[in-house]
Amino acid sequence: MTVYKNFIDGKWIDSKSGKTFIKRNPANIDDVIGEFPDSTEEDVELAVEAAKRAFPKWSHVPAPKRAELLKKVTDMLVERKEELARIETREMGKILMETRGDVQEAIDTGYYAFGEGRRLFSYTTPSELPDKMAITIRRPVGIAGLITPWNFPIAIPAWKIFPALLAGNTVVFKPSRESPLSATKFVELFEEAGLPPGVLNLVHGRGSVVGSAIAMHPDIKVVAFTGSVETGRKILEMGAQHIKKVSLELGGKNGMIVLGDANLDLALEGALWGAFGTTGQRCTATSRLILEESIYDEFIERLVERAKKIKIGDGLDESTEMGPLVSEAQRNKVIQYVEIGKNEGAKLVCGGKIPEGTKYAKGWFYEPTIFVDVTPDMRIAQEEIFGPVLAVFKVKDLDEAIEVINSTNYGLSSSIYTQDVNKALKAVDRIEAGITYVNGPTIGAECHLPFGGVKHTGNGHREGGWTAYEIFTEIKTVYIDYSGKLQKAQIDTEKIKVE
Ligand code: UN1
Repeated sequence: MTVYKNFIDGKWIDSKSGKTFIKRNPANIDDVIGEFPDSTEEDVELAVEAAKRAFPKWSHVPAPKRAELLKKVTDMLVERKEELARIETREMGKILMETRGDVQEAIDTGYYAFGEGRRLFSYTTPSELPDKMAITIRRPVGIAGLITPWNFPIAIPAWKIFPALLAGNTVVFKPSRESPLSATKFVELFEEAGLPPGVLNLVHGRGSVVGSAIAMHPDIKVVAFTGSVETGRKILEMGAQHIKKVSLELGGKNGMIVLGDANLDLALEGALWGAFGTTGQRCTATSRLILEESIYDEFIERLVERAKKIKIGDGLDESTEMGPLVSEAQRNKVIQYVEIGKNEGAKLVCGGKIPEGTKYAKGWFYEPTIFVDVTPDMRIAQEEIFGPVLAVFKVKDLDEAIEVINSTNYGLSSSIYTQDVNKALKAVDRIEAGITYVNGPTIGAECHLPFGGVKHTGNGHREGGWTAYEIFTEIKTVYIDYSGKLQKAQIDTEKIKVE
């Protein structure tokens, strides 16, 4: 079995604890991916010290030069896309088509960062006094602590690492215990590209140990986390002790509205892809389907017929359409929610069980599952399941659909299918979410646009695109007085003659 290490100060080293954990393939638990360090606070401390030492030099490298290094990493991602996609699939289970997409999302983010190296714009504005200039510049925040999930094993680390490094921060990166190999392979590329020691440090391990140490460390100035609301809240509380900047992206209960006038063939494809793509394990997954009553029965009938045909299996097999869940714990969670749904009175019309057959015996597989007659008060209508479980609601019109879609504490993604431009725009305006798709499912965010949500989904930040650079920079306002005299703001303005 291959034993992998942490990457601290440019060296691959074991955890001080000497402890490790084993990661297995969720499609076949006999297939061991490797052994990884089960790190402690002491390892985080070493990583922070290295990041601190590296910061003065790295933050003073001109941004376009930093960008060149990130471009090298991105070029390598292009070359190794297939190899990395296969590692991801073996490690966390989603199908190859999707892991190729995951690596592509990292590539897009890398090239975007490369371009940003020659922008990193701030803004200028006039001063209220003559012969005085007012500008703003962007400075790195310092050491960034990046805590990432397993469902986008390279894309989400890329969303955070590329902008953090481009902006001149140094990084302590803790990936999920469910995707440690993808993270290791990604970090290896930075080493190969020649990133100076200490600029990017990788510490494997538990969220409760390594994640907490990152959130609480006084020298880590910005923390970016993608994961559950429960953990996000803790990170925010821990970060508050040191008045840290904390950027949270905390999942969703994303709804898709299909109105009576919609192109139903299109909506059907969208619902299947949104609900069962990545085995429903996306923050953006379509977990609620809100149907206008005129099409309710017909749409459900067609949806169930198609969902039953989805080919479940090992994601490395090109013909597989849906892989396993990532772990036993995740599958148990789904099993529990299906029980909850039944007890709450929702009607199970598809799936709701582990597929039968020996080929499924060694993995965490589960059937695409659909509940109909769901009402907003049910737990399966409110709580993020993170699995292939779709809750379907019947509504009488657009107004009720908007009421239902807004009836959760989450607000990440949303979607509406209609041919009526007035209805589409009303929905765009009224839906409480960070993202709304018109005639597309709730998944499929592009790397150059803001990504994030409202309500308990986030705390006001947006990853992706230019807004990611706001997370990883501080604005400095600079006043330059070239009048040669003391000019008093708010006071000398009275003397200014307009002639
Ligand atoms: C996530 O699930 O955390 O829009 C990210 C999408 C992807 C990103 C999802 N591009 O579904």
